[in-house]
Amino acid sequence: MRALLKAILPVLAQQLLKRWFTKPVYHRQPKIPVEEYEVLKGQVPGESNDGWQAPGTARRQLDAFAPILQEMREGKLREDFAALVEAVRLTQMDDPLIVEVGCGSAWNREVLERFSNTTVRYVGIDCGVEMLKAAHAMYPGVVTLAGDATELPFRNGSIDILVSGTLLMHLMSYQKAVEESRRVSKRWCIFHTVPLLQTRETTVLRKDAYGQPTLEIIFNSAELLAVFTANGLRVRAAIDSLPYDLEPVLGEPTVTKTFVCEVADR
Ligand SMILES: C[S@@+](CC[C@H](N)C(=O)[O-])C[C@H]1O[C@@H](n2cnc3c(N)ncnc32)[C@H](O)[C@@H]1O
Repeated sequence: MRALLKAILPVLAQQLLKRWFTKPVYHRQPKIPVEEYEVLKGQVPGESNDGWQAPGTARRQLDAFAPILQEMREGKLREDFAALVEAVRLTQMDDPLIVEVGCGSAWNREVLERFSNTTVRYVGIDCGVEMLKAAHAMYPGVVTLAGDATELPFRNGSIDILVSGTLLMHLMSYQKAVEESRRVSKRWCIFHTVPLLQTRETTVLRKDAYGQPTLEIIFNSAELLAVFTANGLRVRAAIDSLPYDLEPVLGEPTVTKTFVCEVADR
């Protein structure tokens, strides 16, 4: 019994300390500028969503994130960072190969390196060349690839943890992106910070992001879960991420979740 306690106590103490120091900061829900949102009718699969690649978008995004990253470096995690750390922890993998699709400037690599309870091997993928340049300026040596979420440059089952990094909401072909995520993943797919509603059908909004018109999908929860199931993914956890309540725009509350999905048959 004493030997058992001796073995368990340091592990417990370490976990408690880690939890204490990674206690998230709860930011208030930002004010929703209702007039900047346009609700589009039904799905708009033909419409492109390439505002992300416009010159200056990466710079503006990094400027917006600078204070949030500073807080993170001081040990205060925003809810989305905390959700991602928790999602990776739940996979219980040691030293996993993590590919983040839609990595932007790759700050999630820093978040995971600082707060994961394991080392991570990180590769970032983004379709925006400017985003990747910003990633290399901020994190020299970071491994990145230019690529598209709907056509990932990896073999089947070759990635330990595939992270779709706050990306599904921007992909009109999200079903294909889910299929691709599952194809390349050995066991885990994390769909990070996905906006959800319960009653309306999946709804597309147009709004400005970092000065560029962007499309944003708010998913009907049941519809999205059906897409996961149809692609052989089992949801093992749905973690609260950033507050994002679009009730003033959509007439019903919305939330964001980070889904930890396990590949059913590998
Ligand atoms: C909202 S940012 C997410 C940044 C970061 N991953 C996070 O979680 O905060 C979305 C990123 O996805 C990228 N992106 C948009 N469409 C993409 C696509 N089809 N394939 C790969 N990346 C894409 C954008 O360039 C942008 O950097």
